[in-house]
Amino acid sequence: MTPDNNGYVPGLEGVIAAQTRNSRVDGLAGQLTIGGFALEEIAPRASFEEMTFLLWNDRLPTADELAAFSQELAALRELPPATLQLIEDIAAKDLDYMDALRIAVGTLGLQAPKIDPDPWLAKRLVATFPSIVAAAWRLSQGEAVVAPDPKLGHAANYLYMLEGQAPSEARARGLETYLNTVIDHGLNASTFTARVIVSTASDFVSAIVGAVGALKGPLHGGAPGPALDMVFEIGEADKAEAVLRSKLDAGERLMGFGHRVYKVRDPRAEVLSGAARALYEADGDMELYNLVQQVEKTAVALLEEYKPGRNLQTNVEFYTALLLHGLDLQIALFSPTFAVGRVSGWLAHCIEQRADGRLIRPKAQYVGDNGRQWKALAER
Ligand code: COA
Repeated sequence: MTPDNNGYVPGLEGVIAAQTRNSRVDGLAGQLTIGGFALEEIAPRASFEEMTFLLWNDRLPTADELAAFSQELAALRELPPATLQLIEDIAAKDLDYMDALRIAVGTLGLQAPKIDPDPWLAKRLVATFPSIVAAAWRLSQGEAVVAPDPKLGHAANYLYMLEGQAPSEARARGLETYLNTVIDHGLNASTFTARVIVSTASDFVSAIVGAVGALKGPLHGGAPGPALDMVFEIGEADKAEAVLRSKLDAGERLMGFGHRVYKVRDPRAEVLSGAARALYEADGDMELYNLVQQVEKTAVALLEEYKPGRNLQTNVEFYTALLLHGLDLQIALFSPTFAVGRVSGWLAHCIEQRADGRLIRPKAQYVGDNGRQWKALAER
């Protein structure tokens, strides 16, 4: 989009509004760099704790540093009784899990140290996101909250708190690769929100509450649920073409395809499809996995036929749906689980923004009237 005479760019598309060492999105080459590593190099290998350390310190931890950092996070997982009580009230009102997360996260500032709260709060926020989502989930299902297990890693413990039993290695790895894959993605809307809030010298809890609010909107990553519904609607591989054609003929969009930035296959789709294959081979429904492959192949071919030259390729949401479904997560948990991964990236940007110290304060182009004359109420 080209700026008009006053430099206004709708949606700030293409405007560079921050400098970051956290991640780089190259939409034309289909590359995502996180903390200096290609996504495919690091996401399937690192633990989530390692990824978080990398983003917050701009280097990988040593073995001792990782052990200490993981222990610190594990020790901060337990929710305060007031927060748990609030989540219970929220569950009774049948609120969305993203609302539960936003409301509960706001309480975490209660215990923050008065002096130098940022490092403690950053760890506390990352450590408690899974605890909040799992507690809200279990209570909404009429089940008791499961206390965190400090012996389990961050990803494995999240599944444990959701299900009440420790996950297999394949399931924990599947979730860990997902969390690593979505940990950061340039200056997306929720990350920008967090940076703007920190730039006013506000606190990290406020920044993360704002980021959760921005992420809640369906324009920011709401497609994995509909993508999964589409696969189930197709049901069998030989129906893929007919069902997808009828959608395209009706002018519908195929969920899980196309991207504003990526004009080739989203690199996150590549990593998540690998993670999904490993998970389904170890512990899943290979029929569904094969159906998804067929749906993807057919969809990409039909999109080229219906929208030639648009380069509509598989995006992150398509394989997110398959992977999270393979982990037995219900669709309502997809966005909050994304937040469990993204919170580390949000905080990496908060840390960067704090160091930058510059208030983010753009301008608006005034397009209203001028010179209006005041009229008393009786004359309007
Ligand atoms: N299925 C069918 N057609 C699609 C499509 C899809 N998934 N995505 C884009 N198109 C079409 C548009 O209808 C448009 O066609 P037209 O020029 O004939 O009107 C053309 O491709 C370009 O679309 P545009 O809206 O400019 O693309 P965008 O960059 O603004 O949109 C998305 C990006 C993600 C909003 C869009 O691809 C989409 O709606 N995808 C489906 C939802 C989804 O998977 N979202 C998750 C994204 S991570």
